[in-house]
Amino acid sequence: MNRVIATERLTKIYNTGGSEIKAVRGVSLRVEKGEFISIVGHSGSGKTTLLSMIGGLTRPTYGRVLIDGVDIWAMSDEELSRFRNRKIGFMFQFSSLISTLTVRDNMLLPAALSGKVEQQHEERALELLERLGLEHRAGAYPAQLSGGEQRRVAVARAFMNRPEIILADEPTGDLDEESEEQVMELLTHMNREEGVTILLVTHNLELAARTRRTLRMRRGRLEER
Ligand SMILES: Nc1ncnc2c1ncn2[C@@H]1O[C@H](COP(=O)(O)OP(=O)(O)O)[C@@H](O)[C@H]1O
Ligand SMILES: [Mg+2]
Repeated sequence: MNRVIATERLTKIYNTGGSEIKAVRGVSLRVEKGEFISIVGHSGSGKTTLLSMIGGLTRPTYGRVLIDGVDIWAMSDEELSRFRNRKIGFMFQFSSLISTLTVRDNMLLPAALSGKVEQQHEERALELLERLGLEHRAGAYPAQLSGGEQRRVAVARAFMNRPEIILADEPTGDLDEESEEQVMELLTHMNREEGVTILLVTHNLELAARTRRTLRMRRGRLEER
């Protein structure tokens, strides 16, 4: 058994203007290496909050997140951010491209930030762009792309550092069917060929049905479906 993610009674309570919102309530989730899990649930049920606690972006109110057995919220901010960059690829709604860099340089940014850009990074960037039908846009700036194209570049970029885990929060939310299919094929390919563990939040039940395990978030609790 190779457990890559474990949460223990993970809980998030937001305090806003004197009132408490229990966004995530005691979620204990176990994910084995190489799983591809979809998470469905109504808007406001706590999906984004759960993913961002697992990804080290939102500090839990109670409970723990273990990644490869390491309690990530016991780390210093600096350790956590290094850990995150090394292990996790994010596809969140807010993940946006840098407007002053070309698509190609946006793709190479994760490599540039963690050292030196090499031939292998250039090749990987091109291969990922090809898988999303965007190789001919490598020299363009984000503003020259449609919203859907920008979204797909951000999706491709999440794989640049060969993350062990991908946390994808409705990555196909605003895409047309064809682009959505390309993104799903990329996720499936990376899961099968590179053994990447994936948690995918989606509204699309057809996409969810294509993963081996689907969980449902309901008012802050997570149920097997
Ligand atoms: N930063 C925040 N501050 C206060 N409340 C929040 C915050 N983020 C989310 N919430 C609330 O927590 C609940 C769960 O939100 P969220 O995790 O975004 O759900 P989902 O992704 O399933 O739509 C909602 O009631 C939402 O309004
Ligand atoms: Mg959300």
